[in-house]
Order: sequence, then C-alpha cells, then structure tokens
Amino acid sequence: RAYPAGLLAVIHNNSSSFCSESKECLLFDLVCRTADYEVRHYDPVKWVSTDAEAYFMGVGAAMAFRRLFKYISGANEDGVKMDMTAPVLVKIPEDRKMWEPAIYTLSFLLPSEYQDNPPNPTNEKLYFTDMPDMKVYVRSYGGWMLSLTSKLHSHILIRALDRAHAPYNTSFHYSLSYDSPMKLLNRHNEVWYVAEGEPVCTVPQNPPTGSPKPQL
Ligand SMILES: *[C@@H]1O[C@H](CO)[C@@H](O)[C@H](O)[C@H]1NC(C)=O
Ligand SMILES: *[C@@H]1O[C@H](CO)[C@@H](O)[C@H](O)[C@H]1NC(C)=O
Repeated sequence: RAYPAGLLAVIHNNSSSFCSESKECLLFDLVCRTADYEVRHYDPVKWVSTDAEAYFMGVGAAMAFRRLFKYISGANEDGVKMDMTAPVLVKIPEDRKMWEPAIYTLSFLLPSEYQDNPPNPTNEKLYFTDMPDMKVYVRSYGGWMLSLTSKLHSHILIRALDRAHAPYNTSFHYSLSYDSPMKLLNRHNEVWYVAEGEPVCTVPQNPPTGSPKPQL
C-alpha cells in the first residue's frame, strides 16, 4: 500500500524510547528544549475522537476510552480491527467551573493505514478529528496520568511558559498517555500547550524572586 507523501514521517514504529508498546506512534521534530520544556513540531494527523462530559479520569472518561477501544476492535462499518497506537490524547478545557462537568475529548491516533480513509464508526458518539500542523510546548512526566498529577504538571508548565514569555493558547491543554495499564514501570505521560506564533526557547535572564520552582 502506498502512503500519501509525508505520512510515514508522521507516524512510525518505536522510534522514540517512550513508544515501546505500540506498533505505531506519533512522530515529531524536536524544535528546541529548555530545562523546563520541549518545543515540538507535529505534522497534520487524523484521530478518532469521542467526548466525555465528566471529571477527568472519572466514569465518563472510562466509558469514552471503551468506545474508542471498541472502534479499533471492529465496531466500525467495515468490521476492521486495528492495532492500538500511541499516544492516547485528552483535550482538556482550561477554565472550567468547579460546579459543572467539563467536556473532555479523548482521541486515539488512527494507524497510518487508515489515516486517509478510516472506516466509519458504528457508534454515533465517535467522530474524526483533523489535527493541524502545530508546534506545542511539552512537559513529560512518569507514573500514572491521574487528574491530580496532570493538573500539577500543567500548572508547572504554565509557570515556565509565563516566565519565558512564551505565547500559547490559554483555552485548553492536551494530556497524553503512552502506555497501557499493563505497563507498570517507566511510564511516560505528557502535557501540551499549543504554541502561538514563533515558539520561545530562551531561558529568562532574571527569574522572578519569590516564586521558587515547585518541588516534585
Ligand atoms: C524497535 O522494535 C524492534 C522490533 O520489535 C526492536 O528489535 C528494536 O530494539 C526496537 N527499537 C527501539 C529503539 O526500541
Ligand atoms: C485556542 O483554542 C480554541 C479552542 O480550540 C480556539 O477556538 C481558538 O481559536 C484558539 N485561539 C487561537 C488564538 O488560536
């Protein structure tokens, strides 16, 4: 099968050390790196997505995960079974109110074979998402992607970006998980903010006093 130009550069198997379990992972170019974050460039790529109206990692998110898993296990119009890819992506709105559930969007990366022409889901709650070409600020962390750790790392990343005067889209962030629940050690997770304009990778000259680095 011939892939459209550029696609194989987007996804490939185990090219990064944290892509150890899946046949295909999302590939990126490293733009630059500081002590606090990486800037990466991603090519456009298609995901299969579903929304969960719930608190993060709650029942709604588990059900959303199951819907996506059913889709790759054959719950689609062609009855096609696909390999699981990495990472699993969760889009999280930034300014959610405490008293109302937020809409989280969970997405699985479509395998390269189905990027162009994915089989339609049989569940109407699933839809395709075309992620544009983009640059993101990335903070990586180990362990489990739980609501609290994800929030902690997004706060640490925000502080670093604000210190560096690095503009990013403040309305949402992505939380990513690269491992199945079977993997217990060396788990890899990330939090992303989408860069706006030219990404900033310079370390500020005078870190403000009175805001010590958070201890992990
Ligand atoms: C990639 O996968 C192949 C086959 O599964 C394995 O032999 C190789 O060591 C892996 N490479 C990395 C960098 O993990
Ligand atoms: C930030 O993201 C939101 C939600 O995806 C989008 O509607 C908005 O246009 C983005 N802002 C900018 C400046 O791109």
